[in-house]
Amino acid sequence: MVMGVVSWDHIVLVTLFLVFFILSDLELCNGGITSSYVRNDDLSLDMPIDSDVFRIPPGYNAPQQVHITQGDHEGKGVIVSWITPEEPGSSTVLYWAENSQHKSQANGFFLTYKFFNYTSGYIHHCSINNLEFDTKYYYEVGIGNTTRKFWFRTPPRIGPDVPYTFGLIGDLGQTHDSNRTLTHYELNPTKGQTVLFVGDLSYADDYPLHDNNRWDTWGRFIERNAAYQPWIWTAGNHEIDFVPELGEPKPFKPYTNRYHVPYKASESTSPFWYSIKRASAYIIVMSSYSAFGKYTPQYKWLVKELPKVNRTETPWLIVFMHCPLYSSYVHHYMEGETMRVIYEEWFVQYKVDVVFAGHVHAYERSERVSNIAYNIVNGLCTPISDQSAPVYITIGDGGNLEGLATEMTEPQPSYSAYREASFGHGILDIKNRTHMYFGWHRNQDGYAVEADSVWLLNRYWISSERSSVAALR
Ligand SMILES: *[C@@H]1O[C@H](CO)[C@@H](O)[C@H](O)[C@H]1NC(C)=O
Ligand SMILES: *[C@@H]1O[C@H](CO)[C@@H](O)[C@H](O)[C@H]1NC(C)=O
Ligand SMILES: *[C@@H]1O[C@H](CO)[C@@H](O)[C@H](O)[C@H]1NC(C)=O
Ligand SMILES: *[C@@H]1O[C@H](CO)[C@@H](O)[C@H](O)[C@H]1NC(C)=O
Ligand SMILES: *[C@@H]1O[C@H](CO)[C@@H](O)[C@H](O)[C@H]1NC(C)=O
Ligand SMILES: [Fe+2]
Repeated sequence: MVMGVVSWDHIVLVTLFLVFFILSDLELCNGGITSSYVRNDDLSLDMPIDSDVFRIPPGYNAPQQVHITQGDHEGKGVIVSWITPEEPGSSTVLYWAENSQHKSQANGFFLTYKFFNYTSGYIHHCSINNLEFDTKYYYEVGIGNTTRKFWFRTPPRIGPDVPYTFGLIGDLGQTHDSNRTLTHYELNPTKGQTVLFVGDLSYADDYPLHDNNRWDTWGRFIERNAAYQPWIWTAGNHEIDFVPELGEPKPFKPYTNRYHVPYKASESTSPFWYSIKRASAYIIVMSSYSAFGKYTPQYKWLVKELPKVNRTETPWLIVFMHCPLYSSYVHHYMEGETMRVIYEEWFVQYKVDVVFAGHVHAYERSERVSNIAYNIVNGLCTPISDQSAPVYITIGDGGNLEGLATEMTEPQPSYSAYREASFGHGILDIKNRTHMYFGWHRNQDGYAVEADSVWLLNRYWISSERSSVAALR
């Protein structure tokens, strides 16, 4: 009898607990989609040194590793960079508009650097300024010995409704997967016109003695795209190359010698943080691996920079840095937390549309959330839905030799809208001042397939009551 009563109580208690757990479980599991797509998890192998993508161009002292980036604040300038291996040769670029016979020339300079027992080739950087907007230009480098010819198209004049298409690539490296990512980007029917690169370029530092020859192979690998359209650079942790034990205590040495950016044009004092305008977008590049606390140069620059953005001129405000502020993967979990605590409030205040990052070798897209109410004692330390907040997108899935980040925190947090550990790239397709479309493409699919996509409605031009997510595929 007594036993029976106890059992009855027990059953009631168990039932109550079950109901409680089911309910709280439902509450916890209100995140978005964790893709069920399973890819094979072989480590990605680097393409061998004698691969076609690393081939040295023929001819004596032929320029190699040719790449371009935006060279001014408006998009009328281009920085052309290349390396000559045997002798300095000429740092001059000849260039001419598609429909013009007149060849102009711009004079650059070259530099070299040493890293432990590696000596670089002659690294040339040449700024071409005051180009016409929306014009195809041919250019020639290597004057004197072996010349090579390439072309690029300048962006349209800046304006609020100017359509433009950016590619998003991060953590690329030089594996077979890296080559697949680049190929998919090139063959994507929504043609990207400029690459926003969110850091971690060559992964040369994963080799013994940070073998800088792997910086050269990487430069030759990306030339097929980066010589024809600008890649906008961000420094990642694989650019730090801080190796005092090899006598290399100066961070970012190979990166800063090889990849120049127009930081002075945005009144920055450092190549690690800067801004550019392009078409209808205002793009701010930040550095996860430079001091960013209060009173630091980066902080002081951003304080002055954000109020300069004129959303009537450039409606789209895009920020990127290497380390994500929101990521629900186990690898690198919360590494971006210090930067989030300092800057997230400003991203909300200035209605940043989207924040891109790499670092985590996977893809993830957040809801519009903010987590800025916490003041140490009020306990308000959970992200909440916030229509003034940016969407955070992690796109560190270029395909480097370290492989994918497959382990995710469970349950999927509510701020996470979609996550998947596959290699791929993104396309940001700006239509006009109110609408922009983002698509994520995984390498296993056909070139036109989007594994995840979202309409992003402009945070300045569309009232914040309206949802940012107009349509989910
Ligand atoms: C890399 O991709 C390109 C373009 O698809 C292809 O031509 C080349 O053979 C590939 N190289 C390697 C080593 O996979
Ligand atoms: C640099 O040092 C490493 C290790 O001692 C050696 O294997 C390599 O051949 C050296 N490279 C050059 C260019 O001297
Ligand atoms: C390469 O060009 C430079 C400058 O024009 C010239 O001085 C040099 O003799 C050339 N070298 C060869 C091997 O043609
Ligand atoms: C913002 O840009 C618009 C369009 O170019 C211009 O008319 C306006 O004067 C600018 N506003 C400020 C404060 O500079
Ligand atoms: C902006 O682009 C979107 C998507 O293409 C379109 O639906 C909308 O009508 C456009 N707005 C204007 C003012 O043209
Ligand atoms: Fe990284």
